Amino acid sequence: MAEQGSRLDSSLPVFTPDVKRMGGVYLGDSSPPLYSSSARRSLFLRVSAAFFAGFLICLAVVARYTSNQSCLPFSALSALLPMDVGTPEWHQYPPAEPTNAFPSAFPSNVGYPGPTQAGAEPGVAATAPAYPLHSNDFNIFRSWGSSSPWYSIPRGKFGVDSSPEAPDTCNITGVHLLHRHGARYPADFVSGTGPAGFASRLNKNAENITVTGPLSFLDNWTYKLGSEGLTPFGRSQLFDLGVSMRMRYGFLLKNFSDTNSLPVFRTDSQTRMLDSAHNFALGFFGYPLEGQYQQEIMIEAKGFNNTLAPYRSCPNNDIPYIGYRGAPPADAWKAVYLRDTVHRLQRYVHGFDLEVRDVYAMQELCAFETVALGYSKFCELFTQKEWEGFDYSYDINYWYGLAWGSPIARAEGIGYVQELVSRLTQTPIETHNTSTNATLHNAVTFPLGNSLYVDATHETVVLNVLTALNLSSFAAMGQLPTDHIPKRRTFRSAELAPYATNVQFQLLSCSTEPDPQIRVIVNDGVVPLANLDGCQHHPDGMCSIHAFVDAQKENIRSTDWNFVCNTNLTFPDGWKTTTGYPV
Ligand SMILES: *[C@@H]1O[C@H](CO)[C@@H](O)[C@H](O)[C@H]1NC(C)=O
Ligand SMILES: *[C@@H]1O[C@H](CO)[C@@H](O)[C@H](O)[C@H]1NC(C)=O
Ligand SMILES: *[C@@H]1O[C@H](CO)[C@@H](O)[C@H](O)[C@H]1NC(C)=O
Ligand SMILES: *[C@@H]1O[C@H](CO)[C@@H](O)[C@H](O)[C@H]1NC(C)=O
Ligand SMILES: *[C@@H]1O[C@H](CO)[C@@H](O)[C@H](O)[C@H]1NC(C)=O
Ligand SMILES: *[C@@H]1O[C@H](CO)[C@@H](O)[C@H](O)[C@H]1NC(C)=O
Ligand SMILES: *[C@@H]1O[C@H](CO)[C@@H](O)[C@H](O)[C@H]1NC(C)=O
Ligand SMILES: *[C@@H]1O[C@H](CO)[C@@H](O)[C@H](O)[C@H]1NC(C)=O
Ligand SMILES: *[C@@H]1O[C@H](CO)[C@@H](O)[C@H](O)[C@H]1NC(C)=O
Repeated sequence: MAEQGSRLDSSLPVFTPDVKRMGGVYLGDSSPPLYSSSARRSLFLRVSAAFFAGFLICLAVVARYTSNQSCLPFSALSALLPMDVGTPEWHQYPPAEPTNAFPSAFPSNVGYPGPTQAGAEPGVAATAPAYPLHSNDFNIFRSWGSSSPWYSIPRGKFGVDSSPEAPDTCNITGVHLLHRHGARYPADFVSGTGPAGFASRLNKNAENITVTGPLSFLDNWTYKLGSEGLTPFGRSQLFDLGVSMRMRYGFLLKNFSDTNSLPVFRTDSQTRMLDSAHNFALGFFGYPLEGQYQQEIMIEAKGFNNTLAPYRSCPNNDIPYIGYRGAPPADAWKAVYLRDTVHRLQRYVHGFDLEVRDVYAMQELCAFETVALGYSKFCELFTQKEWEGFDYSYDINYWYGLAWGSPIARAEGIGYVQELVSRLTQTPIETHNTSTNATLHNAVTFPLGNSLYVDATHETVVLNVLTALNLSSFAAMGQLPTDHIPKRRTFRSAELAPYATNVQFQLLSCSTEPDPQIRVIVNDGVVPLANLDGCQHHPDGMCSIHAFVDAQKENIRSTDWNFVCNTNLTFPDGWKTTTGYPV
């Protein structure tokens, strides 16, 4: 009892100062948080602190945004105040009797939740050991590829020296948000692979295994992860994303009050997707949700057309790493960067021959246990270089499997692009010949002319969509080598597809531009659009909506879903692509 009490004492009181310290670091120069080598605290607290830091950034952005848009410029303070200074401004939302409310068109249970397995209850307060601390600027939370929690991309990182708040000369007239679910338990592992495969191999051989040194914790280690579902931390990511989007874009709800209607948000039927959408809505609208918006739940299951889960209706998607022969491309890289690690860790295990897949699974366990349980003893086993190798293994996987290096990525993303164009032009889709579902494309469940759209999906689909949109600055590094990490890395899964990754299609009306404009903002990083036909280099990354739509119509015309998904694609030896298309 006394011992437990002292452990609590050593971790809980540091929470507040830590938040402030990390918040300060983030706000000051947007560099990653530094770990003091003397501090001893649990990873859970660090994750929370990183969170609050993200939240503070958001507040800062909002504050800046507000001062740009509606505060008096300082130079005006010596003049007489305008007549309306200090008058109250109140917005009534939601409208009391919205004309588009059709609860029967939005069933709250459409089935197809997919399988999930609950995990063990976390208990960091009682069980977290001290966390291994780093004193340089390496950030382990950003080195887990798509298993990293999302964070704001530093200004300029994607090549546009601008930030998410509207330029002074522009008003925001709409936003279309596409986001991923939050942190989850392991998913989609073929049995025998991944963290669970490692755990069962260990368990099967347990009677003969002895562990020493840094691996002695395995003596008492149990496998506590569930599968597929959202973790408690994942839940908070979506809630926080909802809060932050309300603070950025809440004013767009005035359009709905004006037109006496409710927004429609969309998600998939899978448990983690539906849970993510609800948590986002709770952050955005607050509890209770009734009467504030309508939630479309699109069935995610084999054979169903669904632009937020297009792989379910694309048969060629079932061929793993289609276009590439032999083992998955990332396997070669794992063998390179983990070769020495296997030998290093083998010294502490007797009676069990470690393989690359076991050591890789231990790295995955660090990432998964951290977001599920709040800490992981596996994290401290690896060096910074090994984490960088792990991070890069995700990039290879995703490049060749889901993005510019995959022959089917563009077709899989094109259905969402059609929907985006349909919304931007307020024109229904003519022919449903991709992953779109004609049944759902009606004025109730796919409204046109709204100022705010929110769609929840998977990281795989976010990458498919970025590929289909031809945002090729991310592909500028070319094919990803599997024997070393290149210096120039324009495609990073931790930046593009982390947990709760979010893409804001921001619509603007600017005094400096004759036409309505669009910007694409990925995790707060403004993406260049200049490579799109008809778009120009622009300091804030804008393109006229008209030109953007024309370029996307060209992408739609040149992407044949049926050919990509339903025909026997053949690939000559040495075949590769950087356009996400087979030819
Ligand atoms: C453990 O080692 C013994 C003796 O070498 C062997 O007979 C037994 O099959 C091993 N158990 C497992 C689970 O491999
Ligand atoms: C494992 O648990 C036992 C019993 O609680 C304890 O005596 C032992 O020290 C633990 N071993 C490690 C490596 O933590
Ligand atoms: C389209 O969506 C509806 C409603 O979820 C569903 O009943 C129908 O099966 C879907 N159609 C296809 C082709 O997937
Ligand atoms: C699919 O339909 C669209 C119209 O919605 C058309 O422009 C396009 O050419 C069609 N694609 C194919 C491959 O037939
Ligand atoms: C589903 O997709 C297929 C392939 O694009 C298409 O032929 C079919 O019409 C779609 N069904 C619906 C209901 O949209
Ligand atoms: C939303 O309202 C703003 C401000 O009144 C207006 O500029 C914009 O065009 C409206 N957007 C839509 C899609 O109605
Ligand atoms: C932005 O909106 C304000 C208030 O509606 C308006 O006075 C201003 O002219 C608009 N600016 C632009 C660039 O559209
Ligand atoms: C797509 O990007 C490529 C390379 O950046 C460019 O050459 C091409 O014109 C773009 N296509 C469209 C339709 O914008
Ligand atoms: C696909 O095409 C290849 C090469 O032409 C052929 O060997 C193979 O049998 C075909 N597969 C199917 C399922 O038709």
